[in-house]
Amino acid sequence: MVVKVIVGGFFGDEGKGKVIAYLALKDDVKAAVRGGVGPNAGHTVIYNGGKWVLRMLPSAVVNPKTKLFVGAGVLVDPKVFLNEVKEYKGNKRCFLDYNCSIIEEKHIIEDRGEHFKEKIGTTGTGTGPANSDRVLRRAKLAKDLKELKNYLADVSYEVNEIADKGESLIVEGTQGTFLSLYHGTYPYVTSKDVCASAICSDVGLGPKKVDEVIVVFKSFVTRVGSGPLEKELKAEEIERMGLKEFGAVTGRLRRVAPFNFDLAKRAVMLNSATYIALTKLDVLFPKARGIRDYYKLPLEAKSFVEEIEKRLNVPVKLIGTGPDVFDMIDRRD
Ligand code: IMP
Ligand code: MG
Repeated sequence: MVVKVIVGGFFGDEGKGKVIAYLALKDDVKAAVRGGVGPNAGHTVIYNGGKWVLRMLPSAVVNPKTKLFVGAGVLVDPKVFLNEVKEYKGNKRCFLDYNCSIIEEKHIIEDRGEHFKEKIGTTGTGTGPANSDRVLRRAKLAKDLKELKNYLADVSYEVNEIADKGESLIVEGTQGTFLSLYHGTYPYVTSKDVCASAICSDVGLGPKKVDEVIVVFKSFVTRVGSGPLEKELKAEEIERMGLKEFGAVTGRLRRVAPFNFDLAKRAVMLNSATYIALTKLDVLFPKARGIRDYYKLPLEAKSFVEEIEKRLNVPVKLIGTGPDVFDMIDRRD
């Protein structure tokens, strides 16, 4: 089982970055390729006392041996990309597909206007307007920009070659199932589909190349921006239960609701989940903090995991129990 696709099962911010970083280090993966929308994503990875906040590069960057790719379907903000390459020392191992669309200043300005920012509550990073220009067939592509010249590659070809050789590859999704343009809570969604099949399409991998689809759920649901959120908790409850979070890209306070089994069931269906990664179990059950063996979990935390497995009929094989990448229970074998 070597080609793994990782996607979010709720509204983004499920902790995909941490799960990806764990797999990249633990399995020492050869390469990782990012699909998804663009720099509206924000993955936070905490490892070994260091902190990475990633908007353009794959979260597998924490493993210095992993080769990093960005698929043709992903929008590139050249400034954000070049900054991350510099900051996280990706110079010799980060590649963009020739055909990635470019986010220009005008897209960012439009995304901060009334329709996007006020009505939809977008991240204001220019992604919606840039995808719209792509559809209208007037977008600039990565191959049109001098400053990106050293980073260009035929990413679809490269990742297929890696997969065909039987080498390990992580395909990184962004956002979450219910922010999908097609399967989410339209119009309060992002500007394209972000389910597993779409992520594969973004990077040029056909469905037969995929071995595992990992759907990531946080132990509770969060959402930033507008749109429905069933059983949304009040500010006092969020505070009391210790569920307060802020967005990695926008700094906005996240809305919070309890784990939603109906949404989770649908996410399992829409993505054809092989197994589930559950994050932040320690936030719901503080006694689970830092535990790395399943049998050492407090009883009520185990019951929660077992209820998920029973009601969703999919195994929970990875469980996050703290901020560090290796605060993880791994039940894969
Ligand atoms: P856009 O993707 O910036 O156009 O924003 C559309 C909706 O998706 C808004 O509700 C955003 O808050 C949400 N969104 C986009 N990217 C992310 C993400 O990475 N995490 C959480 N929400 C996101
Ligand atoms: Mg995020």
